[in-house]
Amino acid sequence: MQKWTQLEEKCRECSKCELSKTRTNVVFGVGNPAAQILFIGEGPGENEDLKGEPFVGRAGKLLDDMLKIIGLSREKNIYIANIVKCRPPANRDPLPGEREACADWIYAQIELLKPRIIVCLGRIAATSMIDPEFKITRDHGKWYDKDGIRYMAIYHPAALLRDVHKRPGTFADLKELERMAKKLQEQAPGS
Ligand code: URA
Repeated sequence: MQKWTQLEEKCRECSKCELSKTRTNVVFGVGNPAAQILFIGEGPGENEDLKGEPFVGRAGKLLDDMLKIIGLSREKNIYIANIVKCRPPANRDPLPGEREACADWIYAQIELLKPRIIVCLGRIAATSMIDPEFKITRDHGKWYDKDGIRYMAIYHPAALLRDVHKRPGTFADLKELERMAKKLQEQAPGS
């Protein structure tokens, strides 16, 4: 826990890229640092920048509602972080250089959390964490194994707000996530 707090403190002082100049808050992450499931989004929006917490706007409310269906919550059993910890101006996509500058933080978070499952929320997280060639429309809901961790990507909650037709497919992906989480828990309970 001490290491986690130290990492968070260091991250809050980060000035590795230009985004640090326009941020209000570093958005390090939220949830249970002992969780076995890590969700990774793209980067903070306006509300997140102001509050210093990921997914606190409309997309965050939808994410929380979706997670509840499969028994997950940021208060209890997951951790939520982003690819970039500072808000890109006007909510543009984070630039490749910004993603690269920030990568050490998410890898350090993974190293300490040791999650069994990582769920990427949307294209930016999936292409950063799973495969640069990842296509979210084609590859969402599939499992990928990397360094002993199971990765899956689902549509970003903001995409689900824009297009309700993507929701049934995402519901199926979440049920698959629930199945895998249960299976891993049965194989090695409590670890
Ligand atoms: N979208 C993201 O990808 N992350 C947040 O924290 C908020 C919105």
